[in-house]
Amino acid sequence: MHVHYFLLIGFSWLSSCDAAIDPRVQLALTLNSSTKGISTIPDGRIFMVHGSSPQITEYNTSTGIQTIYPYTKLEYDASSPNSSDIKSTYVSLNAQRIGPDGNLWLIDTGGSPASMPWGPKIIVINITTNSVDRIYHMGNVTKTGSLLDDIRFGRPGSNRAYLTDAGIGALITLDLATGQAVRLLEGHESVEASFPASFQGTLNRNMDGTVASAPAADDLEVTPDADYLLYQAASGNLWRIATKYLDQSLYNSSLATLLGDLTEDWAFTSSTGGTAIDADGTSYYSNFDRTSIDAVWANGTRFQYVQDDRLVFVDAMWVSTDQKLWMPMTMETSNGTYAVYTMDIGVGPSPIDHA
Ligand SMILES: *[C@@H]1O[C@H](CO)[C@@H](O)[C@H](O)[C@H]1NC(C)=O
Ligand SMILES: *[C@@H]1O[C@H](CO)[C@@H](O)[C@H](O)[C@H]1NC(C)=O
Ligand SMILES: *[C@@H]1O[C@H](CO)[C@@H](O)[C@H](O)[C@H]1NC(C)=O
Ligand SMILES: *[C@@H]1O[C@H](CO)[C@@H](O)[C@H](O)[C@H]1NC(C)=O
Ligand SMILES: *[C@@H]1O[C@H](CO)[C@@H](O)[C@H](O)[C@H]1NC(C)=O
Ligand SMILES: *[C@@H]1O[C@H](CO)[C@@H](O)[C@H](O)[C@H]1NC(C)=O
Ligand SMILES: *[C@@H]1O[C@H](CO)[C@@H](O)[C@H](O)[C@H]1NC(C)=O
Ligand SMILES: *[C@@H]1O[C@H](CO)[C@@H](O)[C@H](O)[C@H]1NC(C)=O
Repeated sequence: MHVHYFLLIGFSWLSSCDAAIDPRVQLALTLNSSTKGISTIPDGRIFMVHGSSPQITEYNTSTGIQTIYPYTKLEYDASSPNSSDIKSTYVSLNAQRIGPDGNLWLIDTGGSPASMPWGPKIIVINITTNSVDRIYHMGNVTKTGSLLDDIRFGRPGSNRAYLTDAGIGALITLDLATGQAVRLLEGHESVEASFPASFQGTLNRNMDGTVASAPAADDLEVTPDADYLLYQAASGNLWRIATKYLDQSLYNSSLATLLGDLTEDWAFTSSTGGTAIDADGTSYYSNFDRTSIDAVWANGTRFQYVQDDRLVFVDAMWVSTDQKLWMPMTMETSNGTYAVYTMDIGVGPSPIDHA
């Protein structure tokens, strides 16, 4: 989700010895900076994005060494702003993922507030050559208060991708061939946080004690049959909409205005930092209230998948081809490191999500 809950008060790192630890949850990586999301590829390369510079790193599983990913040299230099540079460099990465095409897709919010119109963008990188394959500029479908959040891909061959705007709640459908995009559902309850986010039973508060508003449309997944987009605000309640309506709305503005009526309440989910979906269509949600991972079966039934007191503030998750759920922690451990946990789930990724 990629939104940080620095403002929580009263949190203390797990110290009690009767803490609930599930041995299936295993420490996979120990990082020096928190990550907002991880992608793994079968040959062992691991990519991640961070909230501060360097914003992209690569972890080599055979050496255990984390290096600055080469494309980091194209990080925007905010100390000498240059409106030409901003078209081709990233300002503030919020998400990354290896797409179904094998490229690394980076989501740049363009800053906060977003630097318009060239800040918000999607940068596609070929990880064989470590070079930029394409940049999609999203300035026509975002606003100054937008927070371009994350991306998922549509039906294979459809050239469609979907994004969430967690700043000013909305979904975005993007035509990957032409780069044309449309902003959808703005103002509809399904893309807004209807309730503040909650952490271990307590509402998330600002420093001054007022209840903090939760990020709007944030987490999203496409079902393995590509028929539905599942999406939710950070504070929860999962909605779904048929992808065919999102796809058609790109070139049918009268349908776009009717979209609210085509959304469905889908599952009662908690405040979450991140999600993932597997080949069976089971989607996984980090549950901030219960330090658990919850899952929603393909039929919409939710259940607790695993509970472990170490699972505090799990951000964007990932299902690897070796059938593990990757869970990056945005909460610092007592010794100043950040843990990434994995758990065997016995099923691989949705094939239309990534290989
Ligand atoms: C990872 O490290 C090994 C051992 O040094 C090296 O052979 C391999 O090329 C590295 N992988 C990448 C993707 O850099
Ligand atoms: C983290 O920092 C320590 C100490 O500087 C260093 O030895 C270690 O290699 C770093 N770990 C990673 C994953 O970069
Ligand atoms: C701004 O960026 C452009 C494109 O990278 C470059 O050609 C130009 O020299 C830069 N201008 C300044 C003042 O640095
Ligand atoms: C990445 O570049 C290599 C070398 O040019 C090419 O073979 C490969 O098809 C590219 N990958 C994608 C996903 O386009
Ligand atoms: C917005 O759309 C117009 C028309 O297609 C295009 O010329 C312009 O470059 C776009 N702007 C951005 C920021 O993408
Ligand atoms: C656009 O959507 C509307 C509403 O669903 C529908 O009546 C109309 O036939 C669609 N237009 C096209 C060209 O598909
Ligand atoms: C939903 O699917 C799961 C897994 O297939 C099944 O165990 C459960 O009974 C189903 N629930 C309903 C209400 O059909
Ligand atoms: C502290 O850091 C080390 C690596 O530097 C790691 O192996 C260990 O698990 C960490 N301790 C905790 C409580 O996370």
